[in-house]
Amino acid sequence: MKCKVCGGKAVISLRAYNSALCEKDFISFLENRVFKTIKKYKLINDKDKLLIAVSGGKDSLSLWYILNKLGFNADGMYIDLGIGGYSDLSLEKVKKMSDMLKRPFYTFHLNDAMGKGIEAISKKIKRTTCSACGMIKRYIMNRVCLDKGYNVIVTGHNLDDEASALMGNLLYWKEEYLWKKGMMLNEEEGHLSKKIKPLFLCSEREMAAYAVLCGIDYIYDECPFSIGAKSLFYKELLNRLEDNSPGTKLQFLKGYLKFIRQMNIEKNRREMKYCINCGYPTVSDKCNFCRIMEKYGIERNIIFEEYRPTYEVFE
Ligand code: AMP
Ligand code: FES
Ligand code: ZN
Repeated sequence: MKCKVCGGKAVISLRAYNSALCEKDFISFLENRVFKTIKKYKLINDKDKLLIAVSGGKDSLSLWYILNKLGFNADGMYIDLGIGGYSDLSLEKVKKMSDMLKRPFYTFHLNDAMGKGIEAISKKIKRTTCSACGMIKRYIMNRVCLDKGYNVIVTGHNLDDEASALMGNLLYWKEEYLWKKGMMLNEEEGHLSKKIKPLFLCSEREMAAYAVLCGIDYIYDECPFSIGAKSLFYKELLNRLEDNSPGTKLQFLKGYLKFIRQMNIEKNRREMKYCINCGYPTVSDKCNFCRIMEKYGIERNIIFEEYRPTYEVFE
């Protein structure tokens, strides 16, 4: 297999693009893809202060690395969900990247702040672990942005994450979520932070290859609570479609982006208030997070630990 650009030895075949690339050209291809996505969809403007949510996985760590390389300075944030060794190891990977990039990050420890890890909290509030986790992560990500003076949350959601979420929402016609699956959420302008997903058009396989080729040290394991999740099943189904017809996932998402643009959806602008407990923007008197935690008597002491990189030279 030869590289389509330079004729050298290809290390990866990209059937969706009818192409194969060598290490150097693949790295440029992927970085260029992220750059073009940011520019084409106007994800970042000059005044934006970026905070990237890093989980310790390949996508968010690679994205942090790429953003820095492209000159978009971003600090990080890590939410320690208190999942034993999995959370500790993830934090180590985030620290390593922070040191390498010389960019600080904030950590939120669920056990310290709320007296319990995600498993115990989800039981207490009678939700599945993933649903409790999603709700808490959304709140904490916005909260750290607001508290620390950032205005954009960057996440590492990739093409496979987005295609599987879209598929799930379509199958069950979850209309209220269907419109929220773009690569930029600017919903409550002036209240909540803007959320962007620059890896929207980069597949899981491409991201794994990028991380390995760039020597990015990431956590391989999935969260133990994601085993058996529907989203993983949808990913598998979509990969079978992709095997049969390369490019399907990309077309699915690109078509969706075009569709929501053409529909020019009028968002229901709701009048925003601020939570009487925590000051967080909400549509009622108390935000969802405070309401649920209060109902089930869970303490909340929202503090962020700041990690300053050690200025060592890394290989
Ligand atoms: P997931 O929902 O695990 O597929 O993660 C999607 C994105 O959410 C990741 O790429 C990160 O940007 C962010 N994220 C997930 N888990 C965490 C975490 N524990 N701390 C910070 N960001 C996270
Ligand atoms: Fe949320 Fe595992 S339960 S990442
Ligand atoms: Zn609140």
